[in-house]
Amino acid sequence: MKTLNFPRITTHVLQEMKLKGEKIAMLTAYDFSMAKIIDDSGIDIILVGDSAANVMAGHKTTLPITLNEMIYHASSVMRAVERALVVVDLPFGTYQGNSREALNSAIRIMKESNANAVKLEGGREIKDSVDRILSAGIPVMGHLGLTPQSINKFGTYVVRAREEEEAQRLKEDAKLLEEIGCFALVLEKIPATLAKEVTENIKIPTIGIGAGSGVDGQVLVIHDMLGINHDFSPRFLRRYLDLYEQMKGAVELYIKDVKSLDFPNEREQY
Ligand code: KIV
Repeated sequence: MKTLNFPRITTHVLQEMKLKGEKIAMLTAYDFSMAKIIDDSGIDIILVGDSAANVMAGHKTTLPITLNEMIYHASSVMRAVERALVVVDLPFGTYQGNSREALNSAIRIMKESNANAVKLEGGREIKDSVDRILSAGIPVMGHLGLTPQSINKFGTYVVRAREEEEAQRLKEDAKLLEEIGCFALVLEKIPATLAKEVTENIKIPTIGIGAGSGVDGQVLVIHDMLGINHDFSPRFLRRYLDLYEQMKGAVELYIKDVKSLDFPNEREQY
């Protein structure tokens, strides 16, 4: 089912969806072929996430991925997408602490990939960077709660903001990001009651991952929801396929067919 019959999803469409109570569906993609399938299926937002560092490149954290690599993934996705809004993560080290560098990084993503928006992790500590990017007319999606680029500070990927102090800070940061002009906010791995409260208190859409059902939309990493990953099963993940097993089965069959001379047969040659 495609959202409200909108031919192209914009930040304004997402705002309208929040007002009308229509949930927003977001998935990640990092390459042309996957992005084409996801876009043709009617997804609202495609995130070219820095989770590419994990699922595409095999790194343990999202930290190693570079701006050039993100631009490569984003351009591949953009060549496929006709309808979804495409958001690209600014990778670690390209926006924290220096708003001019943040602006340059965001401009490179927009110019070189043709994407529609960028996403940055953090709250008040990156306010200047978000401000500067927004002032150049680039839409910004915020990201609060579990922020994987800060894994070395927190030491674990457990649920964030269970304690009152951190929850209060998150609520203030959400308000701040709304006030300075972010068009949406990812809330990752926080208690469902907190995510609901934030969602009800800000006007921009919230997109949850491990944040319960009281948010305006949901996001999952495509490799996780298709079951391409075997070794990642957090409680919040719903697997729609077991592609690991299905692909492995297909590859094993192909190997058997090649070795037994079954492939190619007479109809499969010239
Ligand atoms: O990089 C990513 O895939 C993300 C989502 C998990 C929100 O930031």
